[in-house]
Order: sequence, then structure tokens, then C-alpha cells
Amino acid sequence: MFKIAILGGGVVGSGVADILIDKSKALSERFNKDISLKYVLDIRDMTGTKYEPYYTNDKEVVFGDDEIKLIVVTIGGLDLAADFCRRALKSGRHVVTSNKEVVAAVGCELTLLADENNVRFLYEASAGGGIPIIRPLNLCLASNDIYEINGILNGTTNYILTCMYQDRLSFDVALKNAQAAGYAEANPSADVDGFDAARKIAILSSISYNKFVDYKDVKCMGIRDVIYDDHEFAAGAGYAIKLIAGSRNTDKGVTISVEPKLVPKTNMLAAVNSVYNAVLVKGSYTGDTLMYGQGAGKHPTASAVVGDIIDVLTDACKQSIPGFVNSNAVVIEDKEETSKYYVRISIENHDNESDELKAATVKCFGNGASFLGASLSNNNIAALITDMCTAEEFDKKLSDFCDITGAKAEYKLKVIN
Ligand code: HSE
Repeated sequence: MFKIAILGGGVVGSGVADILIDKSKALSERFNKDISLKYVLDIRDMTGTKYEPYYTNDKEVVFGDDEIKLIVVTIGGLDLAADFCRRALKSGRHVVTSNKEVVAAVGCELTLLADENNVRFLYEASAGGGIPIIRPLNLCLASNDIYEINGILNGTTNYILTCMYQDRLSFDVALKNAQAAGYAEANPSADVDGFDAARKIAILSSISYNKFVDYKDVKCMGIRDVIYDDHEFAAGAGYAIKLIAGSRNTDKGVTISVEPKLVPKTNMLAAVNSVYNAVLVKGSYTGDTLMYGQGAGKHPTASAVVGDIIDVLTDACKQSIPGFVNSNAVVIEDKEETSKYYVRISIENHDNESDELKAATVKCFGNGASFLGASLSNNNIAALITDMCTAEEFDKKLSDFCDITGAKAEYKLKVIN
């Protein structure tokens, strides 16, 4: 008998409990192993709920029970969750977690601890929610040199950006809608400032490049400063604005960032809307591989957790320790990287002078640059997209443009080709 305890009966934990309650019998038959849920630990009283038969608020009951072979850690935050993982692994239990803070901060330590204790530490649900991404990177794509990943890894910000464009909303109103819909937290910082996506891209990059990428090295810019007009300008030029978590593995080191970017409508990531996530992985043999699905939410995330449970149960993917626990990535800023840039400018003294601005755009930013005109709703703001240039060249060109035209640069974003 393979009994399971869930530490944390919140959204994901109760989702895992739902699936185990509904599916244990079918899964036991299918994999010819007897699994069942025994405990859901939470400090909130769960009596009177469907989880009552499993409910305990005493962690010693869980850790003292020899029937428990696998512990699911679904509580949030770092310290307590990491301590629960350590204790479970040291006591010879497998650990499955959805907690990306734990994986991004102490995933290497916990992987080694699991190995020392001859058990597994798995975390498919920590990046991309219900999308199978960690196991495909670890196994299915293992023969590839993966050299680039670009993803939409945060459902809340993708929902906000989608609502802003589709419903012509300000960031503040779209954020309130996301909170009312239960996606954004009362304190939305982890999502809207990009920190959640930073942890996820650090985890995926570590696995893909086989060296540990510290989430604290991720260059991070959130979506608070995007305004409705930016979406209008971008759409008019054939782009969508998305919060892109991306990294590249170069000879010099790893570049990694989370920032809103203009994505061409021909790129599949541009069509990923609402709370959906997608990850586009470039591999040496596969070329582009896109994985798409629900990156958050109770049952999609719980489905990934249960996938890890099945993996442990069947020993399906038992493997040696991934290389990233033994070597650290050098994170660099690639100063030679070129990109087009989108710039929103204020043009208060430029009514009806778009010809001058159009000419200055091409003069300063090159023949491939385009002036996008003034906003339909606010004549005092306009936007342009530059030709390809490095970040340093861009700063210089923008300063020249502002000097020539008297326009003020309000907001800048990179444009994906
Ligand atoms: N807050 C996260 C999101 C939850 O919106 O994607 C899943 O990690």
C-alpha cells in the first residue's frame, strides 16, 4: 500500500486531494500498485468538507505514520515548505511539490538530499502548472542542446494583458478584474512585477542548460506601466504585448529576463490569451517545440502533481541527478544582442506634425523604423518601432530623436522578430 499525505489543503492541495479521491482506484488498477490518500494537513479546520476523513492539523501524525511513503508539499512560501520537504526526504519519503519558491531557491539541495536518501524529489507543477514541461525537458528532449526558451509563464499577467486589450481597460481596472476572478492575489506583486515568472524561467533554464540558474539573476520588469494605448499601437503594427520569460544559452553565458515584449502576431505565443501559458523551446534536433495549456488553477496544477506521483509509483523516469545541481550558470547581459524597440512618446507640442516625427524616426532609428502615429484616444501620445540595434545604440538614438523633436520617451519595450 502506497499512502500519500498532502501538506497544505489550499487551492492546489485540495485539487490533488480531489483527484486522488476520485482516481486512486482507477490509477491503482492501471499501474498495478495500490495508492491512496491518507492525510490532508492544514491549519484551517476542514471538518464538514469532503476532506474531513483525511484531515489533520498535526504534522507529527503525518511524519510519525510509517504507511506514508510520499508527501505532497503544496503549502506556499519558502521556509516552512522547504523544511517540510527536508524532513520528509530525510525520513525516506518521496516528495512532490508545486511550490516554485522552494524549487527555485533550494531545489539543488533537495535533489541531492533525495538522492542521499534514495527517494525522489519531483516538481513538474512548479513551472507551467498543468503543462507537461519539466519531464519533457528532462527526458524527451534530453538529446538536444537546448539553446533558447521563450514562454508566457504567468497566467495572471497574461489574463490582465488580454483583458486590457480586448476590453480597452487600464492596467488598474484589469488588475481588479483579475482579483475578482480569483487569479491575482490581494498583493499582486509576485505576478505583476514578474517575480513568479522569474522563478519559473530560472527552473526551466537550469534543467534545459544543465547548470543552475539563480532566479535572483533574472532581469525582471513587470507589466504595471503598460497602458491601453500600447496595446492599440502594437496591434496596429501587427503585434501583441506579452510578458515574456526568456533565456538563451550562449558561449559566454546565459541571458535571462522577464519583460513585456511586442510579439509578432505570426509567432504562436501572440495567440496565447487569458490565463493560458505556453513555452517555446528551441532544441538542436527538434527545432521549435511549443507546449501550451493552463499554467495555473486548482485541477490543472493538481494534475501535474499527480503525474509526479505516478512517476514515483512506477519508477517510470528514475534517473541520475540532473547536472544543474553540480554546476552554476554564468548569467550575462549580452551587449551585442540586437533588437527592434517599441517606444511610446509624449508629443504635446506636435499636433499635426506627424510628417516631422515620421522623418525623424527614420533619420534616427534607420530605414526599417516606423512611426506609428498618435493614439486615437489621446492626441498627445504617439509611438514608434525602431530598426534593429543594440541596447546601447538604442539609448543614443533615442536621445538624438528626443533632442531633434522635443518629444519625451515615456515607455520602451523590446520587440521580438
Ligand atoms: N500566480 C501564478 C500565475 C500561479 O498566475 O501563473 C501559478 O504559478
